[in-house]
Amino acid sequence: MIRLAVRCRPAEAEMVLAELTVLAPGGVEETNGDDYIEYAIYGAQGELPDVGALEAVSGQALVEVVATEVADDWADRWRAFHKPLEIHGSADGTSFWLRPPWETGGPGEFEVVIDPGQAFGTGAHPTTRLSLQLLLDLHDRGLSGGAITDLGTGSAVLAIAAAKLGYSPVTGYDHEVAAIAAARLNAAGNSVELFLSRLDLKQDFPRLAPTVVANLTAQLLEMVAGSMTPENLPERLICSGLLEEERQRVELAFEGLGLMPVEFKAADGWGGLLFEGKA
Ligand SMILES: C[S@@+](CC[C@H](N)C(=O)[O-])C[C@H]1O[C@@H](n2cnc3c(N)ncnc32)[C@H](O)[C@@H]1O
Repeated sequence: MIRLAVRCRPAEAEMVLAELTVLAPGGVEETNGDDYIEYAIYGAQGELPDVGALEAVSGQALVEVVATEVADDWADRWRAFHKPLEIHGSADGTSFWLRPPWETGGPGEFEVVIDPGQAFGTGAHPTTRLSLQLLLDLHDRGLSGGAITDLGTGSAVLAIAAAKLGYSPVTGYDHEVAAIAAARLNAAGNSVELFLSRLDLKQDFPRLAPTVVANLTAQLLEMVAGSMTPENLPERLICSGLLEEERQRVELAFEGLGLMPVEFKAADGWGGLLFEGKA
């Protein structure tokens, strides 16, 4: 059994991950290095994408591709990697348990069960955690509910969390076929209703709900800001996927629309922002 690891620069990691999930729909294992993020795929010789294809999808973001031989218990290792995770907004606020279907849950009031096999969004990524924390903060301020739009829904982890926090209707968009397929399965697995559509934000822009969550990249967030108009502007916007040092450029992009940054959270070099419309 081979473990094929693609190491890439953190700034472009999410783009690489989006490409890798197409080449490796079985999922990837993520590890944070000092100055790289590593995505690893397990498989038998001949089953894995070839190194040239991995190099091609990673482009300028690539640091290196490392192949190592591993024992034949890779499926167990893969599962062992996804442990239940408790997410808190504020220290004494509401919490969420995220877990894969093969693990049992924790005692938290809310639980999101995500099969990480198909798309981005096991919930463990810092940007997903930051988005969930900001959703929980709104909930603890009594501001959950109403319609919500999830831009770049991936496995629908944020959309499902929102539905469990009382938002309705919950609409999720992603340009990846694999993401929408995984999102549908996860919505059914969590018994929540989501309205999911395939949409490329670079080409189309949806009608936004009063609350929007967008875990994308700084570049895509700027593009999202550029597509918003006074007639299609959320009252509250949670953004993540930006690096800490990209905070100012994302803030500037939305401030021009009258959305003011009211909260910033950071984890492992990533940032999460909550914007609110001017009262
Ligand atoms: C960082 S992941 C977030 C996934 C999930 N919302 C979470 O928080 O874990 C970004 C998602 O945006 C999607 N995405 C990237 N570019 C996009 C585009 N141009 N249009 C629509 N979705 C896009 C990716 O496929 C991916 O699922």
